[in-house]
Amino acid sequence: INRIAVLTSGGDAPGMNAAIRSVVRASGHFGKHVYGIYRGYDGMIKGSIKRIERHEVGNIIHRGGTILKTARSYEFFTPEGRQRAYETLKAHNIDACIVIGGNGTYTAAMIFSEEFDIPMIGIPGTIDNDIFGTDFTIGFDTALNTAIDAVDKIRDTADSHNRVFFIEVMGRHTGHIALHTGIGSGATGILIPENNVSIEELVDQLRKGVKRGKLFSLVIVAEGNKNGGAAKIAESVAEHLPELESKVSIIGHLQRGGAPSCHDRVLASRLGASAVTALLDGKTNKSVGIINDEIVFTEFSDAISADKSPKKSLIEMTNILS
Ligand code: F6P
Repeated sequence: INRIAVLTSGGDAPGMNAAIRSVVRASGHFGKHVYGIYRGYDGMIKGSIKRIERHEVGNIIHRGGTILKTARSYEFFTPEGRQRAYETLKAHNIDACIVIGGNGTYTAAMIFSEEFDIPMIGIPGTIDNDIFGTDFTIGFDTALNTAIDAVDKIRDTADSHNRVFFIEVMGRHTGHIALHTGIGSGATGILIPENNVSIEELVDQLRKGVKRGKLFSLVIVAEGNKNGGAAKIAESVAEHLPELESKVSIIGHLQRGGAPSCHDRVLASRLGASAVTALLDGKTNKSVGIINDEIVFTEFSDAISADKSPKKSLIEMTNILS
């Protein structure tokens, strides 16, 4: 392996730049050249690829977003699209690829590496923390810090006005962000896809809080929970508790931006360098992760489909603490 391509794909996550830097620096250390593909798999199809020199990744470790840009490519999920992508790689004599992203990125890499003789290694980069085979994905910690900072600010005004706030955080399929933000903010209610809390149960929790003399409450809602978005939940609760004054706040894409936390920078640096050594050791079709502080490799198929729900004990604990 002499030429390694790197791309970021799907939703961006703080720390992706630190991972790119690590891939470039580690490859250089072993005398390999790195090519950056712009806008994910779309760029692979369209030939948006260029050599990245060591100095070009200076001063990016602390930056949010991704210098390689990102996209969600639908064309790559067609055989013609993948054939064109392969031709781009061949035209630039690329021997292997490192893809940084989440579930969609990994699914695409898995299909591609089964069809073509290009080794692929994945680095888990998504704020959702929903990739199996790593304790944490790149961006999750930063997104949590952003969310908790926002919730702390909302808490001030909720407290001043004696209001109930329904705060929606990201997390399409999993409730990691909502669960951690909810625990970290001492929320009265946490609604995530994994705990299936019903409106009636939430109303009950809020009522109990009022009985105990609670003057304001925070309810953290994962966008993927079964009861709908924060606005819909607020409306449903109001039907049962019209006496409570409620407000809705959707934190949204704020969670995807900003300077990565130190945790995410270190995680990204370790995963980037390990992805390079994995390719040089002949590994392919795998995701690199860290479990209990050790580097581990997981087949793409497992990384995508094995259960990465929050721990049951953590979910149960919220019933005791709220
Ligand atoms: O997968 C990361 C994520 O931020 C999800 O939490 C969210 O549902 C989705 O991406 C939003 O994607 P987009 O920015 O394309 O709307």
